[in-house]
Amino acid sequence: MSALPGSPEATATTGLDSSPVQPPAADLPPLTEQARLEAREIMARYPQPRSALLPMLHLVQSYQGYVTPEGVTLCAEELGLTKAEVGAVATFYTMYKRRPTGRHLVSVCTNTLCAVLGGQRIFDALAADLGVHHDETAADGSVTLEHAECLAACDYAPVVTVDYEFYDQQDVEGARALVAALRRGDKPHPTRGAPLTDFRGVSRQLAGFSQHADAAAASAAVDAPGEWGPTLRGVHLAAERGEAAPPMPGGTERHAPDAGEPAATVRPAGRDGETPEEEAADARVAAADTPAERAGAAQTHPDRGAEYGQPRGRQRAGTETPPTRDPGQSGQGTSIEREA
Ligand code: FES
Repeated sequence: MSALPGSPEATATTGLDSSPVQPPAADLPPLTEQARLEAREIMARYPQPRSALLPMLHLVQSYQGYVTPEGVTLCAEELGLTKAEVGAVATFYTMYKRRPTGRHLVSVCTNTLCAVLGGQRIFDALAADLGVHHDETAADGSVTLEHAECLAACDYAPVVTVDYEFYDQQDVEGARALVAALRRGDKPHPTRGAPLTDFRGVSRQLAGFSQHADAAAASAAVDAPGEWGPTLRGVHLAAERGEAAPPMPGGTERHAPDAGEPAATVRPAGRDGETPEEEAADARVAAADTPAERAGAAQTHPDRGAEYGQPRGRQRAGTETPPTRDPGQSGQGTSIEREA
């Protein structure tokens, strides 16, 4: 359905809203039928409808600026969950806001590296300018300010994001100028990546709806020029010195890229003779963030006896013979499960 651009609701939810900033309203307009239809469109993307909850919560934020009680009810009704279950998810993740947000969400990394390079000073200066504390919104409704944990951009520290777009290597004066521009209604281009929208607009993106008129416009935004120097510095140094990573076990030789050459996509070493299903299952195990997730992914792996991503015959250090699969011993987990 991505019919929203151009519709009467479009300017309020695409991040392209240029109307004057207003203080957060106490009485929000109710969620529309369009919102409910879009929630169902999100649900249709997943084999299990409840998997749609996270993007649905972003959708609610795109309409109402935070996860409202009405939004919780809508998600619960559509997914057949209790409001308590939806609320448990919405209160777990910091990206879901429980109070009205300003037009822009300014996040200042105050985690270790950014903090020692001035992140806390930046936060304190912005808090004083805006007259707010963490997770509070300026009285004019322009900006919500928050502390953020590591934003995975330590090589650009100290970093500030606005609506999750990066403004790298900030200092106090630069960050104050950035926020002042936001309060004037300007949208300074991020250091890298797509153009700035606003909190509702990026929430709509996170719900999986494009805010661009067509695919070409979306590509142009995503491929916008940016400053990538610090991240690529190590690649260029390695190229200058002729250094390369040692070959992966069972993998193919890779060469050191020439300076300026884009780094090749590194494919994890797989096992010889894997089926597509096994490769996909390997990828799920490799992508798991926690031991519990690894164990869950391992349980559904078609080759539960292996340590995934290792060449066959090397799965268990000190063992000549890899463990065999025994469907009759469902209670015996893989070594990954036991580690977990
Ligand atoms: S510590 Fe700030 S981005 Fe990592």
